[in-house]
Amino acid sequence: MEHEPVLAGEVVELLLPAVEHGGVFVDVTLGRGGHASALLERAPEAELVGIDRDPEALEASRAHLSPYGSRVRLFRDDFKNVAAVLERLGIASVRGVLFDLGVSSPQLDSEGRGFSFRARGPLDMRMDPAQELSAHEVVNDYGRRELASVIRRYGEERFAGRIASAIVARRPVEDTVDLAEIIKEAIPAATRRTGGHPAKRTFQALRIEVNNELGALETALPGGVAALSPGGRLGVLSYHSLEDRIVKTYFADQSKGCVCPPSFPVCRCSAEARLRLVTRRAITPTEDEVTRNPRARSARLRVAERLQVSQGDRR
Ligand SMILES: C[S@@+](CC[C@H](N)C(=O)[O-])C[C@H]1O[C@@H](n2cnc3c(N)ncnc32)[C@H](O)[C@@H]1O
Repeated sequence: MEHEPVLAGEVVELLLPAVEHGGVFVDVTLGRGGHASALLERAPEAELVGIDRDPEALEASRAHLSPYGSRVRLFRDDFKNVAAVLERLGIASVRGVLFDLGVSSPQLDSEGRGFSFRARGPLDMRMDPAQELSAHEVVNDYGRRELASVIRRYGEERFAGRIASAIVARRPVEDTVDLAEIIKEAIPAATRRTGGHPAKRTFQALRIEVNNELGALETALPGGVAALSPGGRLGVLSYHSLEDRIVKTYFADQSKGCVCPPSFPVCRCSAEARLRLVTRRAITPTEDEVTRNPRARSARLRVAERLQVSQGDRR
């Protein structure tokens, strides 16, 4: 299936003020280049640095973005290295950074990648196929407690302990559909019918663990903000509460100014806000968009703008 960019109109409208007069914007989750091409169209003087850790995504984007010629430079890397990629290119600052987290439709739909519990495939789930850790090791080699902890933490799954025990008892587990069946059987029948497919949360947890998704996001957000020039904007599209919590907390922290108690006559903390929140609340898709593109259902978009900081970059 083609990947339809989520909240594309909103992403463009909110990032455009920062890039409409030119400069570099970085799409750190390039995917099929849907958001990137929409921005390149609307900001004809802007240049794109596109990053993705999946070589298939980069190849597809290379073709899709070829009409923009030398305005586009693409790199295979983990977005946690965004600062290093820009440094290698000699780019001191950028006008926009976009994160569209998670997996793309072509990744989900490709049986061989092992992301989907609906299609039989190997237990893989690596976004970067050169990486060593795959879902096969997590499912077959982690201890029961470690596995339960991954499923509980990253899947917010209340039956994590039962699921981990069932997996351990049935090892070796070799493919996605067998795994989904084991998970389903481990969940009490009465609760199987609520909250979508019973394997959904565990598959999400395994994917997050395999790709270190939350760790990469926590490292990359400060890197992205540090790269922005004043007035530059950072947008993040997240798809579950764990990601959104990281973004919301980081934005709130960075948009806080002085934290001295009101009783202090003068500021002693010297804390300065580095970001201004462009979206006070997360933007969510309309019912129309969700009907057209069900993958958009859980999307939340947050955008912040870089402020001038008088004392240099302290954080
Ligand atoms: C939801 S898709 C992006 C779709 C894209 N916005 C579009 O319009 O086509 C997410 C992409 O980010 C990539 N990705 C996820 N985590 C990454 C990371 N830590 N570093 C680099 N790329 C990552 C995935 O490989 C995937 O291609």
